[in-house]
Amino acid sequence: MNERPDAPAARRNREAILEVLQQEISHGASVLEIGSGTGQHAVHFGSAMPGVTWQTSDRRQHHEGIDAWVSSSGLSNVLPPIELDVMTPLDISAHYDVMFSANTAHIMSTEAVERMFALVGSLLPGDGLFFLYGPFNVDGAFTSDSNRDFDQSLRAQDLAMGIRDLADLNRLGASNGLSQVRRYAMPANNMFVVWQRLGNE
Ligand SMILES: C[S@@+](CC[C@H](N)C(=O)[O-])C[C@H]1O[C@@H](n2cnc3c(N)ncnc32)[C@H](O)[C@@H]1O
Repeated sequence: MNERPDAPAARRNREAILEVLQQEISHGASVLEIGSGTGQHAVHFGSAMPGVTWQTSDRRQHHEGIDAWVSSSGLSNVLPPIELDVMTPLDISAHYDVMFSANTAHIMSTEAVERMFALVGSLLPGDGLFFLYGPFNVDGAFTSDSNRDFDQSLRAQDLAMGIRDLADLNRLGASNGLSQVRRYAMPANNMFVVWQRLGNE
């Protein structure tokens, strides 16, 4: 069996994220996760919410690790990864009630974040929910010194990365039929933001 990759941050934040997911997701819902990373979040959430179907996805290089977590979990409601790079157009025919992504918006370029919102807007049905977890700026300002330091370290690695401002994300949401409906303050100066797809289609 392949080794399961471990991200200490994912172990630290998974309980707090799960608490919000359990409030937000209805029994029987199907979720598409963008950027599953190691896959350990998916297994943790899927194990605590057996009535929810959790589809993992990421770029190809992460699939071996995600597969290792999913197969060793034995969970039938957590599905092996599909290849999903938001920069690459893809043809998804499956139906998802919810889309979720953690710690991706600051890793992706602004163009990739735009594509992610476009993808979410095109896939979610009316009233469908999009959850984005991570550090965000509010009104153009960092919410903590640690987020400012983190942003600097990201930009030192790659100028395309960086903490995104919620107002910009809400603008992207609005252009893709998504409206921010809730926002949860999370440990370590992170947020869990909820957008809802408008309309009935
Ligand atoms: C910091 S990791 C977060 C992983 C996991 N969600 C977590 O919270 O532990 C960032 C993830 O974003 C994914 N990612 C970056 N650019 C992407 C893109 N263009 N399309 C899809 N996923 C992308 C990476 O492959 C990686 O899995």
